Amino acid sequence: MRLRKLLLINFKNIHQTEIALSDGINCFVGDNGAGKTNVLDAIHYLSMSKSAFTMTDGQSVSHGEDFFVTEGSYVTDNERVELVNCSFSKRGGKIIKRNGKEYDRIADHVGNFPVVIVSPRDTDLITDAAEERRRYLNGFISQLDNAYLQSMMRYNAVLAERNVFLKRSSDESMLQIYDIQLDEHGTRVYEQRKRVIERMQPLVAEYYGFLAEDREQVEMIYRSELDSLSLRDILLQSRERDLVNQFTTSGVHRDDLVFKIGGYPLKKYGSQGQQKSFLIALKLAQYRLLAEQTGEKPILLLDDLFDKLDMRRVERLLGLVSGDDFGQICITDCNKVRLESILKSAGKEYVLFTVDGGEIKR
Ligand SMILES: Nc1ncnc2c1ncn2[C@@H]1O[C@H](COP(=O)(O)OP(=O)(O)OP(=O)(O)O)[C@@H](O)[C@H]1O
Ligand SMILES: [Mg+2]
Repeated sequence: MRLRKLLLINFKNIHQTEIALSDGINCFVGDNGAGKTNVLDAIHYLSMSKSAFTMTDGQSVSHGEDFFVTEGSYVTDNERVELVNCSFSKRGGKIIKRNGKEYDRIADHVGNFPVVIVSPRDTDLITDAAEERRRYLNGFISQLDNAYLQSMMRYNAVLAERNVFLKRSSDESMLQIYDIQLDEHGTRVYEQRKRVIERMQPLVAEYYGFLAEDREQVEMIYRSELDSLSLRDILLQSRERDLVNQFTTSGVHRDDLVFKIGGYPLKKYGSQGQQKSFLIALKLAQYRLLAEQTGEKPILLLDDLFDKLDMRRVERLLGLVSGDDFGQICITDCNKVRLESILKSAGKEYVLFTVDGGEIKR
């Protein structure tokens, strides 16, 4: 999948721009606050129908405006042209169109235009609570399999209803009905997460080993209450506690991912560069699964390429992602000289865009 043209109107600090991208490496350089990350986020929007960073769509509308438009012209790996338009207005909400046709459900769009983003904010995955890791898994597995997104949405809807119910009633026959539904959707979510993580584990270790030249080993482990019991039994066991607490205390909404380095928690014992390398390995593993599943090489967005990495790891990373297993790449960095010199010395072709106050020039 390659993005050939990108049109943006009122997207954060970018008021209006239209750029033509290269199929290979695209570099966006400029000072802090210029709008480099915003460009990558706009590309993320077109694929995922949401920002990689901000929580609400409204936050992506330029200050003082009441709508934004992002539009991309894509070419698939078998040379089919696809036009995606994603707009949001404070009054009318979000609309996504593929080749001029609006989707019945926005969720149906997810997965059709695979993208993977690596950004300094990924460290939230290590430092924040489990919710952040579940959010990541959900976004990623939804791209792999749209049915997962449906199961997750149904699970969350039943969970919300069950929690409201627990606040005002203790009718166990009604709880039983909720439990049957939670079990159905939650078990699907669990099985899909487990399958995906099992496929990812060796890839994460492999990519980490490559970036770190095998200096240390990393692991990723999936933790779920469903590892030892069915969700039906778990819900039954925790019913009394749920009634006391007035919310659902067990289920796949409590799953977590555990990251380790040399057998110890990455959060406590990993250096910043090691943590960053782990996150890149994770994202590259995600890339590989997406490429296999969709048959399309995702667009790879590398925000702040040099963030916390030493020169050697940046070189190894660039060598890897500019190889045959990867496709189009968009890179940002605030230092033009540094970025150009590393790309030139690696003998890589690239296209350079300068970003300044929300203006982008090739
Ligand atoms: N809704 C918005 N409307 C207008 N400007 C916005 C909006 N949201 C963010 N911005 C502006 O966008 C700018 C940040 O852009 P961005 O994060 O893309 O910078 P950057 O070039 O990646 O910088 P850095 O090198 O520091 O990462 C800030 O000046 C911020 O105020
Ligand atoms: Mg940035």
